[in-house]
Amino acid sequence: MSIMDYTIEGYKNVQAKQYIGIFGNPIKHTLSPVIHDTLSKSLGVDERYIPFHITDNLKAAVESAYDEGILGLNITVPYKQEIMPYLVDIDPAAKAIGAVNTLVRTEVGYMGYNTDMPGLAKAIFSEGMELKDSKVVMLGAGGAARAVAYMCLYYGAKRVYIVNRTFEKAKNIADDMNTEFGKECIIPLSAQDYKSIPEDRYIFIQCTSVGLHNGDGLPLVEDKEFYRMAECGVDLIYNPAKTPFLQLIEEMGGKAFNGLKMLLYQGIMAYELWNQVEISEELANIVYSELKNTVYSK
Ligand code: ATR
Repeated sequence: MSIMDYTIEGYKNVQAKQYIGIFGNPIKHTLSPVIHDTLSKSLGVDERYIPFHITDNLKAAVESAYDEGILGLNITVPYKQEIMPYLVDIDPAAKAIGAVNTLVRTEVGYMGYNTDMPGLAKAIFSEGMELKDSKVVMLGAGGAARAVAYMCLYYGAKRVYIVNRTFEKAKNIADDMNTEFGKECIIPLSAQDYKSIPEDRYIFIQCTSVGLHNGDGLPLVEDKEFYRMAECGVDLIYNPAKTPFLQLIEEMGGKAFNGLKMLLYQGIMAYELWNQVEISEELANIVYSELKNTVYSK
């Protein structure tokens, strides 16, 4: 089976000198082609980004992609962990996070990276916030939260509270990351213990899936006063543009940012790895406008 047999409607007849793409299931609604095709077009590179719908046999799909010359791949839900055994090497940060979202072609196979983590950091910096010596409250302790916790310690956060519905999951991430960085700065909490977080100014990062769907309320902590401690709030969700969490952050006087810039920068960083180029901020802004038009004009 050729890798091109996995492409979706609308991409079957695409022709280019070079291909990059994404593996996922489902994959129809991915926004990544907007990022990468805008970059290639702007740079005058004959390269197209193809969504591949992988329903089973991930190993065979990776092998086909490599044999057929695919330059690089993004990996999304549900394969960010499952992909790891099929790679020739994995970047240490991706290993510690336990998830790979980017494959880069080498002479012997694909190497795995995680650009979600530096992508979120870049998004945070681009909004004028600092992580160094910061104090952070994270809501959620799933796969995405693991990358966020790593990011906080990697960039020098002073103190991180992870609040989660299931305490054990928050504790696992805290233990793993405290060990990884040889520090004791992450403190896990179950949702009902949120009041033990000392009064201070924090960066709040919303990493649960609550808010994705119409009618969703606040994640975990419903007490409005809690959000007064937020100097700013970042939600990993970008659609809807303003989740109940972000609405409340603003209502309580904090600055609110959704996850669209994280999506932007994780894509740009993958593109830079594949093509060995540096994308200017000016071009990043052009791509960001394209993304906003695509997501929010529907
Ligand atoms: P992802 O890969 O996007 O992080 P995940 O690993 O399934 O997805 O994690 C989902 C996160 O959202 C978890 O923190 C989950 O809490 P639990 O660890 O207790 O399962 C959280 N979450 C999902 N639905 C929730 C809800 N209705 N209320 C509170 N937290 C919820």
